[in-house]
Amino acid sequence: MRTVYVNGEYLPENEAKVSIFDRGFLMADGVYEVTSVLGGKLIDFDGHAVRLERSLKELDMAPACTKEELLAIHRELVAKNEITDGLVYLQITRGAPGDRDFAFPDPDTTPSTIVLFTQSKPGLANSPAAKVGMKVISIPDIRWHRRDIKTVQLLYPSMGKMMAKKAGCDDAWMIEDGFVTEGTSNNAYIVKNGKIITRELSNDILHGITRAAVLRFAKEAQMEVEERNFTIEEAKEADEAFVTSASSFVMPVVEIDGVTLGDGTPGSVAPRLREIYLEESLKKAI
Ligand code: PDD
Repeated sequence: MRTVYVNGEYLPENEAKVSIFDRGFLMADGVYEVTSVLGGKLIDFDGHAVRLERSLKELDMAPACTKEELLAIHRELVAKNEITDGLVYLQITRGAPGDRDFAFPDPDTTPSTIVLFTQSKPGLANSPAAKVGMKVISIPDIRWHRRDIKTVQLLYPSMGKMMAKKAGCDDAWMIEDGFVTEGTSNNAYIVKNGKIITRELSNDILHGITRAAVLRFAKEAQMEVEERNFTIEEAKEADEAFVTSASSFVMPVVEIDGVTLGDGTPGSVAPRLREIYLEESLKKAI
C-alpha cells in the first residue's frame, strides 16, 4: 500500500483524510504540480517548485512550506514507496474553513491543505507510445482565462480527453480564435521545414516546465525555435507535431483531426528532442 503525505504526516493511503469542507473539494480552490521521477530521482524539481510558488501567489494563497521542505517530502515519498520511475503529485488547497462560503477564509485560522502522493510508472521514459506517436482531435478552448495558474479545475480537460477517446484518439488540442492554445495536459508544438513553432507564453496557456527545458535544449542544439500562435490548419500541414509535459516528456503527434502529418511516423525532430530532453534532464535530476 502506498504511503501518502497529508498536512505534515506520512500515512497509508487508506488512512489519509481531508475534510468535506476543503475548498479544493467544494470549489476547486487549489493548485497542483506533477513532477516526474526517473531512476529514483526528481526531474526539473526546481522549475515545478518555482511555478507552484507563482500559482499560490497569483491566488493569494500562503505557501504551505518552503522549497527545501517540499523537496524533502518529495524525496521521502519516493523512497518510502520505492519509486524508480513514476510521478509525484502535489496539491495545495485553501484549506477547510468548516463551512461553505464564497469568501476566502482567513489564512491565520484556516491553514492550507497539502497533499502529496506518488504514482509508480515503470519504464515511464520508454513509453511505446513515443515510437508510434499520438492522434489528436481539436476542440474549442472554453476554459477560464488564467490558464497560467496550475489550478485543480480540470473538468474541461477531462471532458476533452473523453471526447478524444470517443473519437478513437489519444488527446485533444484546444483552439481559441482559430489558434491552438495547448493540449488537455500538455503544451503543443508543430515543426515546419525544421523550425519548431509553439505558442508564446501568456495567461492563455500553462507555462510548461518541460516546455522551458525543451526550448532551451533545442536552441542549444542549434535548432530553430519560433514562439508564436499557429492555427489548426497550419498544424495539419506541418511536417511534424508533438507535445510536452512532465508525464510524457516529448511525445510525437502523428495525426490531427484525421489528417496524417508527414509520413505518419514521429519524424525526426520530436524523437531527437525527446532523446536530448531525457539525457540532459537525467543529468540534472536530484
Ligand atoms: N499537466 N498544459 C497543461 C494544461 C497541463 O496540464 C500541463 C501539465 C502542461 C505541461 O506542463 P509541464 O511541462 O510543466 O508538465 C501544459 C500535468 C502533467 C498533469 O496535469 O498531469
